[in-house]
Amino acid sequence: MRIALVVDEVLDKYKKKMIKAIQESLDGVYENEVVPFNEDFMKKIKEFDLAMNIATGGGKEARQLHVASVLDLMGIPYTGSPPLTHAFCIDKSVTKAIVKQYGIDTPEFIVVRPGERVPEDHGLRYPLLVKLVRQGSSKGLRKESVANSYNELLESVKWVHENFNEPALVEEYIDGMELTIAFVEDENGINILPPMEIDFSRLPDGIEKFFSDRVKNSGEFDDYIDYYVPARLDSKELEKVKEVSKRTFEVLGFRGYGRIDMRIKDGKYHILEVNSLPMLVPDYSNIPLIFEKTGKTYKDMILSIVNAAKRRFGI
Ligand SMILES: Nc1ncnc2c1ncn2[C@@H]1O[C@H](COP(=O)(O)OP(=O)(O)OP(=O)(O)O)[C@@H](O)[C@H]1O
Ligand SMILES: [Mg+2]
Repeated sequence: MRIALVVDEVLDKYKKKMIKAIQESLDGVYENEVVPFNEDFMKKIKEFDLAMNIATGGGKEARQLHVASVLDLMGIPYTGSPPLTHAFCIDKSVTKAIVKQYGIDTPEFIVVRPGERVPEDHGLRYPLLVKLVRQGSSKGLRKESVANSYNELLESVKWVHENFNEPALVEEYIDGMELTIAFVEDENGINILPPMEIDFSRLPDGIEKFFSDRVKNSGEFDDYIDYYVPARLDSKELEKVKEVSKRTFEVLGFRGYGRIDMRIKDGKYHILEVNSLPMLVPDYSNIPLIFEKTGKTYKDMILSIVNAAKRRFGI
């Protein structure tokens, strides 16, 4: 079996590290080659039996939707979730509307598009968090993204519209335990891995207790954040986290692997967002870090993801 490792045209150091690790995992088990997603892609990909899809696909709006869509169109088996799942997860407000419809908790929210007025009678309870519907990696999240009054809300929404020209997602701020939950599919289907807890409580006074851009990405606060795998949950809570996560992945049609961010408050398990094509950078990304806590290796994870695709497509 020949596997194409489908990657983006432009690669940063993390993506390069991920590609190298995946190739090392496949070497000796499957013939494999790196295939960039570019103009020659549709011709080149026909030489392969399976595509390991780790490309976010480029474009401005649809990003991770492209590669899975082209592979589906061409009838080439691929790893990870189908195009529709990626479509559901590109826009956080769409994901939230779907899971809410299935009775899964997610913070109450409204969406304010550029040019629209922020309704004063929005019915949400302060504090509110003003996010961007389409960004990841905490982009556009600042201390000022938390609004404690209508005036602050107007300011935060205006800032999002002016700087990103995309809809603002206004949602209730959940002051509770934060978890990230991953699954890697095995022969029994979606296997929820031990949840990871992220504890912000040691951050200095005056610093926001959530993954704002600076808390997540500046490196300045890394020593103040504690990670626990498994999370410090009792057995009942753990069961509930697993049940809600599994149901979320199922209703969104996930395959192969995926990740959810959640916050728990007052017995409610709130889905914050769902990542349909999370990165698999060794010693860095959450899914490999969590997977390796179960005593297995990075290579085991990659082979599980490939095997899940082989089962799904019957090859
Ligand atoms: N409703 C909320 N209440 C409290 N904190 C929140 C809420 N929504 C988001 N956060 C905080 O902001 C962080 C980033 O939000 P979210 O996960 O929705 O966006 P993201 O930038 O797409 O994340 P990722 O980096 O995982 O792609 C969360 O990890 C959490 O710390
Ligand atoms: Mg997140």
